[in-house]
Amino acid sequence: MKLPQLLIELHKSSQSLYLPAHGRGQALPNDFRSLFNCRAGVWDLPELEEIGGPLERNGAIAKSQENSAKKIGVKKGWYGVNGATGCLQAALLAAARPGKGVLMPRNVHKSLIGACVLGDLFPIFFDLPYLSDRGHYSSPNAKWLEEVLNQVQTTGIEIDAAVLIHPTYHGYTCNIKPLVNLLHEKGWPVIVDEAHGTHFAFNIHPELPKSSIEAGADLVVHSLHKSAQGLSQTAALWLQGDRIDPKTIEKTIACLQTTSTNALLLASCESAIEELSNPKTRKRLRKRVTEGKQIYEKLVSQGIPLLKTQDPLRLILNTSHVGLNGVEADKWFTKHGLVAELPEPGCLTFCLGWAPQKGLARIFAKRWKELITTQKKWGRLKPFRPIPTSIITMPSMSPRIAFQASSKKVLIEESIGEISAELISPYPPGIPLIFPGEFINEKKAEWLIEQRFNWPNKIPDDISVISKFG
Ligand SMILES: Cc1ncc(COP(=O)(O)O)c(C=O)c1O
Repeated sequence: MKLPQLLIELHKSSQSLYLPAHGRGQALPNDFRSLFNCRAGVWDLPELEEIGGPLERNGAIAKSQENSAKKIGVKKGWYGVNGATGCLQAALLAAARPGKGVLMPRNVHKSLIGACVLGDLFPIFFDLPYLSDRGHYSSPNAKWLEEVLNQVQTTGIEIDAAVLIHPTYHGYTCNIKPLVNLLHEKGWPVIVDEAHGTHFAFNIHPELPKSSIEAGADLVVHSLHKSAQGLSQTAALWLQGDRIDPKTIEKTIACLQTTSTNALLLASCESAIEELSNPKTRKRLRKRVTEGKQIYEKLVSQGIPLLKTQDPLRLILNTSHVGLNGVEADKWFTKHGLVAELPEPGCLTFCLGWAPQKGLARIFAKRWKELITTQKKWGRLKPFRPIPTSIITMPSMSPRIAFQASSKKVLIEESIGEISAELISPYPPGIPLIFPGEFINEKKAEWLIEQRFNWPNKIPDDISVISKFG
């Protein structure tokens, strides 16, 4: 089947519980949808004078970015057409200088490791509270971060910036303001990866967590296709305060982003933000959040092992509770018409998105009963183990140097004592299991071997390690 046809036909009769959150077009904003009533392609325009681009002073896009920044309450904003990935990389490269340290949680998205490689930045990873019943990292609190900062001080490394994630892919959040304050007390600009929390920034529902913008973060990245109603690849980068110069951000965006930004995607950025801020459409979105809460409560009341999260648009099924790997369960659900977003060893996460999910609770409960009777698993999987690490982990060599060094492939079993030259990070969720420049000790190798079993067919048997220094 050719690609265009495949895009239409694939999972046509299934319920899409994955991202982008517009649910295969059902929840695309009306003004944006009207583009598709015109001749296909008529909107595919270059950076004409009237339109401009994300880095132009004049034109409709500059005006639109300005309006959107005002709506969200920040000094400046840029639309992105390379996902949250592009915006996060531009943000980190603007905030930190080559060779300097950047503090980041161990569950960062791999795009930030990419930024460290590109900018020769030195990541200092901090450990996080771990939920071993499901194999997820949760979010730290201020006490946890204080302990991290005490440890960081002992390294003597000069740090240029810090990164936080809020919420995680699964929708776990924390009270982010005290964390931002602690990092600001150190004099560091704070970048928040809020890819999964655009809706938090618009206060559409009183029970949703507060955005990191309200908490005073300097740079905040939203993925408009993951947590608003944009097309895939749409994103936004917001700047507030005076710690980062907007000109530096424009320089890094110019290095990373195409000179031919797609007009359709830019229009989608605007309409996704407009939808979250317009009183008329917000009412509809509030309903989706309430619906998500009701689906969760209905399913939990029937004994289905869903996990609590702070984002009602995520349903996390704890498959390990009945002895099933989420990756195996995903295959079964897909075959039976429910296509999830994020299969992991202990869970299967479904994203409700912004389209109505009529009848989902009933069909979900039915499928769950069928699954547990046909799969005949007993008991729970054994608790998951986090990456063996101390409160902070640092690379043995700069990820940039490790990435470009001469390397050789060895079996993971034979990698003890070596330095990784590569990133291993099953996607989704894109959390690095090992990064370039990381030293492989016995515990780490053992843990990676265990992950091969946890992530069937997603982790290679071998790993690239540094073969020659210098
Ligand atoms: C936490 C987090 N940040 C950033 C990204 C990157 O987003 P995008 O795919 O829009 O580039 C992802 C993608 O899964 C993510 O989960």
